[in-house]
Amino acid sequence: MTNNAFPDGFLWGGALAANQVEGAYRKGGKGLTTVDLMPTGEKRKAIMKGFVPSLEPLEGEFYPSHEAIDFYHHYQSDIALFAEMGFKALRISIAWSRIFPTGEEEAPNEEGLRFYDDLFDTLKKYDIEPVVTLAHFDVPVHLVEKFGSWRSREVVGLFEHYAKTVFQRYQDKVKYWITFNEINMLLHLPFTGAGLTFQENDNVKQIQYQAAHHQLIASALAVKACHEIIPDAQIGCMLAAGMFYPHSCNPADVKLAMDRDRESFFFIDVQARGYYPSYAQRFFKENNISLVTNPGDEKILASHTVDYLGISYYSSRTISSDPEVMRQSTSGNVFGSANNPYVKKSEWGWTIDPLGFRITMNQLYDRYQKPLFVVENGLGAMDNPDENGNIEDDYRIEYLREHIQAMGEAIEDGVPILGYTSWAPIDLVSASTGEMKKRYGYIYVDRDNQGNGTNTRSKKKSFDWYKKVIATNGRDL
Ligand code: BG6
Repeated sequence: MTNNAFPDGFLWGGALAANQVEGAYRKGGKGLTTVDLMPTGEKRKAIMKGFVPSLEPLEGEFYPSHEAIDFYHHYQSDIALFAEMGFKALRISIAWSRIFPTGEEEAPNEEGLRFYDDLFDTLKKYDIEPVVTLAHFDVPVHLVEKFGSWRSREVVGLFEHYAKTVFQRYQDKVKYWITFNEINMLLHLPFTGAGLTFQENDNVKQIQYQAAHHQLIASALAVKACHEIIPDAQIGCMLAAGMFYPHSCNPADVKLAMDRDRESFFFIDVQARGYYPSYAQRFFKENNISLVTNPGDEKILASHTVDYLGISYYSSRTISSDPEVMRQSTSGNVFGSANNPYVKKSEWGWTIDPLGFRITMNQLYDRYQKPLFVVENGLGAMDNPDENGNIEDDYRIEYLREHIQAMGEAIEDGVPILGYTSWAPIDLVSASTGEMKKRYGYIYVDRDNQGNGTNTRSKKKSFDWYKKVIATNGRDL
């Protein structure tokens, strides 16, 4: 990478999600949302997959989202710290159930709208550009109860109403939008991604792809509304990116890697190109999936494609046709992966593969020819304060340095990239495990897995490092 890889105006910053930071889960008129039903540990794992014991929080259970890191009451001082690092952008999500507590109201909850107004005004004070996700792993629980969440076409109209409401309200404040966070997560963690719940004998794939169709239509309608209401805004999709490597050059492994990549590309093929990919038909047939669609759906998808591709990248994945190799697979991230001896792993078994990041960005640009926005990338690690109470997180700096370098290389390969919002600038609740000890931040939060602690914020070593990266526009890593 040369010294001037990053263009002027590159949007450096960090990324958060409402349900992982805000807390205040029933304050200000907010309704119950899917993540409010997720405890930690094994119970969380089953729930994320759609096996949900109760649609109300249970007595005596600990739910990390209920208080999270209390960003709801700390956002002003937290944003002041982000500003001190020189952030140009902050990615947040709006909690749908703060605006429409059940998801079905005609009139929005003014107190919820005001909260985000104040948050955007605070960002404006520091010249930080908001990048806002409409749905980041939360669905109002009432919609799960009444309609089965995204199984039902009803939810498309309700989401469109929510999207239009926030576009109208924040049209002068927000110019970068994202429809669904990691839309492909619906296939791996269906309750997390889409509020889907299952019974024993359900045809899970049928339900998932029907829900996917509804989200894709809802996403296209949100793009339409955004373009009409805020003509100078850009709105993107969001993919949990990271390619599958074939474990060997056995063509069977290569074919499997292609199939697994297509599982994810499927969504972006529709959102970026405007139609279902040619391979979908055979896949649907072989898996007994038949989609219920409305007349006019094809036109909606074709007419309202996204402006850019938001991506998260943490890891690459590896796949083998040999069951023995797969048996030795690492716990990896939610995508599952065979062991790759050429790359390191995090404490949670996620591969660390910066070159894979560069390859992934090139692959996505080759495929879609739309600008990318790296809206998540980072290292979840255990941070232990030293005898002076400082956190010397050199491992995090190393991870970020290598990935930022890879991004610079991708830009020089010819990939247009709008910005980089690392996950996450401040410690928060882990989406997959509910833990606090899986920390990502430049800012430490004094809170443990059981919710004990003072919530005090303190700077880690990476804080000053990232500040320098931004000040030099990526020249000094
Ligand atoms: C992405 C999500 O999957 O990865 C975030 O969009 C999430 O919400 C992040 O927090 C890291 O995953 P985890 O499980 O370590 O929190």
